[in-house]
Amino acid sequence: MAVLIATFEKTKDLARSVSKILSCDFTNIETKDFPDEESYVRFKVSPKGKTVLIFNTFDRDQNNRLIETILAAGIARDYGAKKVILVAPYFPYLRQDTHFEDYDSFSIKYIAPLVEVFDKVYVVDPHLQRIRDIKKIGKNFERLTSVGPIAGYIRDNFKEDYTLVGPDKESRQWAQGVASLLGKQAIVLKKMRSTWRKVKIEEKSLGKRVIIIDDIIGTGHTILETIKVARRHGAKEITVIGVHGILVEGAVKKIVPHAKLVTTNTILNAHSRIDISGLIADALSRA
Ligand code: R5P
Repeated sequence: MAVLIATFEKTKDLARSVSKILSCDFTNIETKDFPDEESYVRFKVSPKGKTVLIFNTFDRDQNNRLIETILAAGIARDYGAKKVILVAPYFPYLRQDTHFEDYDSFSIKYIAPLVEVFDKVYVVDPHLQRIRDIKKIGKNFERLTSVGPIAGYIRDNFKEDYTLVGPDKESRQWAQGVASLLGKQAIVLKKMRSTWRKVKIEEKSLGKRVIIIDDIIGTGHTILETIKVARRHGAKEITVIGVHGILVEGAVKKIVPHAKLVTTNTILNAHSRIDISGLIADALSRA
C-alpha cells in the first residue's frame, strides 16, 4: 500500500524522520490565511489511492490547528485517499475531561468527534485521568506511549544511582512506567492545586540525584515546586523529563536555573532530546 506523509509546519522534522524510517513519500501541507482569517489548506501532491498520514501537534493555537487538520483530512478524502490517519503526538483538550465546575465545558467530549473524519488518530501519551480508556474518548483513537524511549534515554545517560519521582498521582503512569522498565520503583508525591498557577507538593526526602518525570510541563509550576522539595531535602543533581514540553509562561526560565530539562519531540523545543519517531513509525507500520 502506497503511503504519503503530509505534515503541517510544527511537525515537519518528526514527520520527515518517520517518512525516512518507513521509506514513504513526504510532503508539506500548504497553509495560508484568507484576508478575513479563515484558513486555506492545500496539498502539493495527489493523495489518490494512498494511505495518507497527516501530522500535526496541538500545543498552541489549538483551535486553528484543529480546523486546518480537519480541512486537510477533507482534501485527502475528496481526492481519493484510501485511508486517512491523523498522527497527533500531542492532542489538545484532554485535561478538560469532565465538568470541573458548574456550567464549564467538558471539552474533550466535543473536541474528539471533530476528528471522526480520520480512520485513526494516533496520540502519544494522552492525558487520560478520569477517562482511562482512550476508546471512550473516540473509537478511532489509538494510544502510544513514550515510556520506552524515556527509559532508554535514562539508561544511556545516567550511570550513577538516582531516584525517579512523579510530582503527582496523575504522573504515576509515566514515572512508574519508566521505573518498571528500569527495574526500579518511583516515588509518587501528592500535589495540592489551588489554581492553574498555584500548586503545593508534599514534602519528602528524595535523595541526592533525582529524575522528575511528568507527562505535561505547562507553566512549569508543578515541576518548580517539586524541584524545591527535592532541594530542601538535600538533592544535589536534578533532571526533569517531560513527555510534552508545552512550556508556557516562562516555564523554561523557572526550571533551568535549578535542573537539567529534557523533553521528547512530541512538541519540538530546544530541550527535545528524546526522539519518538521510531515509536510512531513502528505503530504506523502495523496500522
Ligand atoms: C497534570 O495533571 C499534569 O500531569 C501536569 O502535572 C500539569 O499539567 C503541569 O502543569 P504546570 O506545568 O502548568 O504546572
